[in-house]
Amino acid sequence: MDPWRLRVWLGVLCAVVLGGASTAHAASITPPGEVPTPYLPSTQVAVEEMLRLADVKPSDLVVDLGSGDGRIPITAATHFGARGFGVDIDAKLVEEANQNAHKAGVADRVRFVQQDVFETDIKEATVVTLYLLTGLVNRLKPKLMNELRPGTRIIAHDFGFQDWTPDRSVNISKNYFLYVVPANVAGSWRLEATVGDAQHTYDIELKQDHQKIRGGARVNAGGGFLPLFESRLDGDRIRFVLVDEGRAHHFEGRVHAAYMEGTVTAGIGSGMVKRTWRAERVLTRGER
Ligand SMILES: C[S@@+](CC[C@H](N)C(=O)[O-])C[C@H]1O[C@@H](n2cnc3c(N)ncnc32)[C@H](O)[C@@H]1O
Repeated sequence: MDPWRLRVWLGVLCAVVLGGASTAHAASITPPGEVPTPYLPSTQVAVEEMLRLADVKPSDLVVDLGSGDGRIPITAATHFGARGFGVDIDAKLVEEANQNAHKAGVADRVRFVQQDVFETDIKEATVVTLYLLTGLVNRLKPKLMNELRPGTRIIAHDFGFQDWTPDRSVNISKNYFLYVVPANVAGSWRLEATVGDAQHTYDIELKQDHQKIRGGARVNAGGGFLPLFESRLDGDRIRFVLVDEGRAHHFEGRVHAAYMEGTVTAGIGSGMVKRTWRAERVLTRGER
C-alpha cells in the first residue's frame, strides 16, 4: 500500500476508534466521520505538473491551502518568478516552510502562516493549489466560489470537486485537475448589437452549470427565439454564436457584474464584419 493510502486508512481507523473525534491538530474543524487531511508532501513530479497545469506566470499569486513544507509556492517563485503564500494548521510545518523560503532565496516573495484554510483570505490569489482529502476539498468549494475572482485557476491534486467537471484533467502517475473559476452569468441580459445594417436588441436568458452555459435570445422584444450555439465561459470570457438574418454572428467578450461587452464578427475573410456589442444584466424582482 502506498504511504498516502496508508495514512488515509490510519486516519479512518483513528476516526472510527475515537468515535469520530479527530486525532489530528485539525480536530476542532473536522466534522465527525470525516478523515482529517494528514501531511504528505507532493512529489517533485507532482509539484511541477500542478504548476505546469496552472500555467503559472511571474504575475501570479500562488496560494497553497494546506502548504506543508511550502514546496509548491516556493517552486512557483524560484521557477516562474511568481509570488506565493501558504497556510497550514501545523505550526511546525509553517516554520519549516518559512525556513525553506529563506534557503531558496524567495522569502521576500513567499510567506507562510499558521491558519485554518477556512479562515484564509484568498481574494488576491490567481492560482490556488489543493492537496487535501476529498471531504475538505468539497467543504472548501463554496468559499472558493464566493471569494475567488473569475479566471482564478484552481489545481487539485488527486482529490477534485464532486459536482464540478474540471476544465482539464491530467494523469501523470497521479491525477491533477484544473478548474477555472467562472464568472456568474446565469439570468437575463439585454444585448444591443448591430446586425446587418440594423440595431438589434436581444433578450438573452442564460443557464449556467459552472463553466457550462446554455440559453437563447428573443429578438427585438417578442420576436423569434434564437438558440445560443457554441456557448462557452472561460473565467470572465464569454463566447457564443447567434444565427440571425441568415448569418452566424460570433460573439466574444468579457463579463462584469452588471454588464458584458465585446466584439461580434460575421462573415469570413475579406467579407468579415466586426462590431462591438454590450449587454446589461436585467434584474428581476427581488434582485439588486
Ligand atoms: C497532503 S498535505 C499537502 C502539503 C503540500 N500542499 C504539498 O502538496 O506538498 C496537506 C496539508 O494540509 C494541512 N491541513 C489539513 N487540514 C488543514 C486545515 N483545515 N487548514 C490548514 N491546513 C490543513 C496538513 O497539515 C498538511 O500539511
